[in-house]
Amino acid sequence: MNGQILVAYATRAGSTAGIAEAVAEVLRDAWYTADLSLIKPDLLPDAYDAVILGGPIYMGSMREVEEYVRAHHAALESRFRAAFAVGMSFVKDDEEKLAAARDPLKKAISPLEPEHLGYFAGRTDPARLSFLQRVALKVVGSPIGDFRDYAAIKAWAREVSGDLGGSHTP
Ligand SMILES: Cc1cc2nc3c(=O)[nH]c(=O)nc-3n(C[C@H](O)[C@H](O)[C@H](O)COP(=O)(O)O)c2cc1C
Repeated sequence: MNGQILVAYATRAGSTAGIAEAVAEVLRDAWYTADLSLIKPDLLPDAYDAVILGGPIYMGSMREVEEYVRAHHAALESRFRAAFAVGMSFVKDDEEKLAAARDPLKKAISPLEPEHLGYFAGRTDPARLSFLQRVALKVVGSPIGDFRDYAAIKAWAREVSGDLGGSHTP
């Protein structure tokens, strides 16, 4: 492991970008070379020693992550070390509901099973949403606001960083 890491993320309203940036920052603090990129079809995992993928949950699905994993399954198999999901369902502290809220990430990356899975509360900003999206949030009783917990995000990223191993240069 030479320390070239890809942190690739999807976002529709911007909040996952801040989370992915925080993850990349922790890796850089540990002297890894972390490239931060939006998930896009021509982004190849091949040049990297390790890949971390993250994205938001919309209507119970992580479409962008799922499509990327399906398209790059073979290259990811040996490199996919961690994945994270961002959603408002992680604001709740009801253990039963939290367990169900983790399913979209597991489904999106299946059958791959990286050793680290992170689940982070996100942000809803009515000013960035369409009328229909605002109605959808109201119907499901989603909280409104910025619930990103950067201490928890960085603690998770440090765990991932500690397990990457290899010969990055301090
Ligand atoms: C229309 C809509 C549907 C959503 N559906 C879910 C959902 O099924 N589960 C969940 O946990 N969060 C859901 N969310 C919350 C988003 O995942 C959350 O706002 C996240 O931070 C968005 O990430 P982004 O800003 O990177 O796009 C939904 C938000 C909107 C606007």
